[in-house]
Amino acid sequence: MWNEILETADFLSRKAAAHLGRCPQVALILGSGLGPLADEMDDTLAIPYREVPHFPLSTVEGHSGNLLLGRLGGQPLLAMQGRFHYYEGYTMQQVTYPIRVMRELGVKILLVSNAAGGVSPDLQVGDIMLIADHINFFPEHPLRGRNPYGDRFPDMSRAYDPQLRDLCRSVARERGIGLREGVYLGTQGPSYETPAESRMFHRWGADAVGMSTVPEVIVARHCGIRVLGLSVITNLCIDGQPQAASHEEVQQAARRTEPQMKELVRGLISRLPII
Ligand code: HPA
Repeated sequence: MWNEILETADFLSRKAAAHLGRCPQVALILGSGLGPLADEMDDTLAIPYREVPHFPLSTVEGHSGNLLLGRLGGQPLLAMQGRFHYYEGYTMQQVTYPIRVMRELGVKILLVSNAAGGVSPDLQVGDIMLIADHINFFPEHPLRGRNPYGDRFPDMSRAYDPQLRDLCRSVARERGIGLREGVYLGTQGPSYETPAESRMFHRWGADAVGMSTVPEVIVARHCGIRVLGLSVITNLCIDGQPQAASHEEVQQAARRTEPQMKELVRGLISRLPII
């Protein structure tokens, strides 16, 4: 796998050099229903995953599967429109493959977004939640086995960068965007939670639940990439008020929050130093 990562990075760094004159140091992962955030980018070159050497392919409806090279507010960006989920059958190595490629490309900051179900009664559908921390409830760890770089036992005490979180709060405040903050629990899915599971997750300290993000964030931190995470609350699974969840509902709710997410991400990126 390690040679393949280098080949993928080599392919993308040539594309980036030709298109942007350099490799972007900021990357964005656009989660469920949030792919259209990419409309905000200028000079976008879309490379379908199937054209990227060794890249896994995305199979879920609503995940279009393109790597985008472009700019936002002058900042060169690499964006993933669609990610690889463990529930699709990918191994943890495949799920986190793009992050290892980002490391080779010299990415320093990663913005991850996802759709999530609220398990805290303080959350509502349509809320944007800044991820303060996570709980890893995946059955397998992405750093299991040999790694040619990074710590064997990496620290996760500040997985979500405190400075980037401060920046996100101030951008939201300045632009009048409501922002909640909480703990994201990553679970394998693909079934949504039973009421008993939602209750348990909330008692464990989770505010929102989703089927992604945690493996990518662990690998990003292992690579020294700084992370900011945003969840769009697309449905609620709150103790005593069980509600059926569906993929359509999740996608529609994510789309409704798009204007605020676009504004927040645009504001955030414009405030990052151009690195
Ligand atoms: N549970 C898990 N993943 C999700 C949910 C949920 O309720 N909503 C969106 N992704």
